[in-house]
Amino acid sequence: MPKTPSITGKTSLVGLIGWPVAHSLSPSMHNAAFAELGLDWAYVPLPVRPDDVAQALKGLAALSFVGANVTVPHKQAVMRYMDELSDSARITGAVNTIHYQNGKFSGYNTDAIGFLNSLKEANCDPQGMRVAVLGAGGAARAVVFALARAGADSITVLNRTAERGAFLVGDLAAAFPNSSLTFEALTPESLAVLDSTVDLVINSTSVGMYPHVEASPWPADVSMPANIIFCDLVYNPLETVFLARARAAGAKTIDGLGMLVHQGAYAFEKWTGQSPSIDVMRQACLSKLKSGNKQVSD
Ligand code: ATR
Repeated sequence: MPKTPSITGKTSLVGLIGWPVAHSLSPSMHNAAFAELGLDWAYVPLPVRPDDVAQALKGLAALSFVGANVTVPHKQAVMRYMDELSDSARITGAVNTIHYQNGKFSGYNTDAIGFLNSLKEANCDPQGMRVAVLGAGGAARAVVFALARAGADSITVLNRTAERGAFLVGDLAAAFPNSSLTFEALTPESLAVLDSTVDLVINSTSVGMYPHVEASPWPADVSMPANIIFCDLVYNPLETVFLARARAAGAKTIDGLGMLVHQGAYAFEKWTGQSPSIDVMRQACLSKLKSGNKQVSD
């Protein structure tokens, strides 16, 4: 059982700004890691309506919060209130972690480093790899940024909506002029020819996420080559149909929980200056996922 933090007059506070935040795994994940290290810290959900982002940030400062995570739909909206932005936040156009120090807000995007660390943990080094990224939303932007930074040989973005995919590629290509970044439509035909051209496929669409667990971005009649590594950012369910089919085909698979845990761990380090137990964070998420509360989010 995760320990409940005992709040004292000296407790340092962090939280999660989003709308809604009721189903977030982050409070359990961070509070378990604080408890394991014996830190007098607490992480609280902070539901913030879309019109209240500016007041919420003022409130964070006024209430001496050390920082916050930011989730849907505020990752872009908080940017303009940051005094400084990391490269990852500026280039991806999204902030998921805020650190409030000496009267200043610093904005980071720890999704990108969290994604890379989750690959590393699965013994997958994207340097020199040819990668296909399915999707072109916020998660895909963090993934493409991370892959370009890590020296992927080529990155192909495949998206249902062409304009959005082409926009992402144009935007990130400007930040990484030496990377090979291309866009293709997400169709059965384009997936069918990937086997000879990529080493790693990442699902960064929301397809297959609870409650639509029967869906997959990869059509059932298109084979999944065993020589490709398949990674899904969806972690609810932990094994999506996309990953189950890849595993059945003999391919290596990487689930989405690693990215959630590692983005959280990196934020934790920014705030506390200490390294949390990845295992404790993962176990806290797993017990929430298994608790029967199917509707969860970061
Ligand atoms: P996130 O911040 O989690 O990335 P998002 O910005 O809403 O979420 O992006 C969702 C991604 O999933 C988009 O790439 C979206 O494709 P479109 O740009 O065409 O909307 C993709 N997506 C969602 N539902 C999809 C579906 N049924 N088939 C294919 N792609 C889908």
